[in-house]
Amino acid sequence: MRDPRECPNCDGALLRAAGRMPVCSAICAVRHAVCHSGARDDGNRVFFAELSERRCLLDQVRNGFDMLTLRVNDVDRTVEVPGQMPLLWVLRDVLELPGTKYGCGIAQCGACTVHIDGRATRSCVVPVGSIGKRSITTIEGLSASPIGRGLQQAWLELQVPQCGYCQSGQLMSAASLLASHPKPDDALIDTEMSGNICRCCTYTRIRAAIKKAAGS
Ligand code: FES
Ligand code: FES
Repeated sequence: MRDPRECPNCDGALLRAAGRMPVCSAICAVRHAVCHSGARDDGNRVFFAELSERRCLLDQVRNGFDMLTLRVNDVDRTVEVPGQMPLLWVLRDVLELPGTKYGCGIAQCGACTVHIDGRATRSCVVPVGSIGKRSITTIEGLSASPIGRGLQQAWLELQVPQCGYCQSGQLMSAASLLASHPKPDDALIDTEMSGNICRCCTYTRIRAAIKKAAGS
C-alpha cells in the first residue's frame, strides 16, 4: 500500500473527506483504496477515468462545499454540498427524497427526471450549484398540482407500473407534457416521452394513462 501522502492524485485529501458526503465519500474511498493499492493496470485507469467524469473526486474536495438554499417541493431546504454535485445526488442522499431514481447517470434514461421551474429536467447531469432560485419539484411533490394528481390517479386505474423503477421519471415527464399540451395526441406523447426508457415496456399503458388524465 502506497503512503497516501505520496499520492500524486489526492495527497490523502480523499480520505480526509470521507464521511462528509454519503455517496461521494463512498466512491472516493473506493478510488483512494485502488489508487493506493499499487495495482494500476489498464482496468484501473479506465476505472479512474470513469469516476473522474462523474466529478465526485478531488476537484470537489479541493473546491470545498457551498451552502445552498434550494426550493424543493415548495419548501426552502439548505444544503452544504459541492456545487458540482449532481442534483440527483443531493435529492436522494442529502435531502432524503429517494423517489427520484438513478438509472444511467448520463441523461439517457429519464429515471432521474424532476421539474425545474416546471420543465422536465434530468437531475443526474444538473450541477446543484447551477440551480439558483429556480423551483424544483420531485415525484414527492407532484400531487400538489391538479395535473400531477390526475396523472397519478390514471396511473393507478390503468395499473401502469411493472417493476416501477422508471415510473417516477415517467410521471414527471408526463406532467411536464400536459402542462404545455393539455390534449396531446399519440404522436406528441410518443415524441415527448421518448427520453424516458422503460425496461418493462409499459409504453402502451403510459400513453393510455396520459390520455386518460388529459380527458381524451
Ligand atoms: S439517471 Fe438521469 S437520465 Fe438516466
Ligand atoms: S416499469 Fe419497470 S422499468 Fe419501467
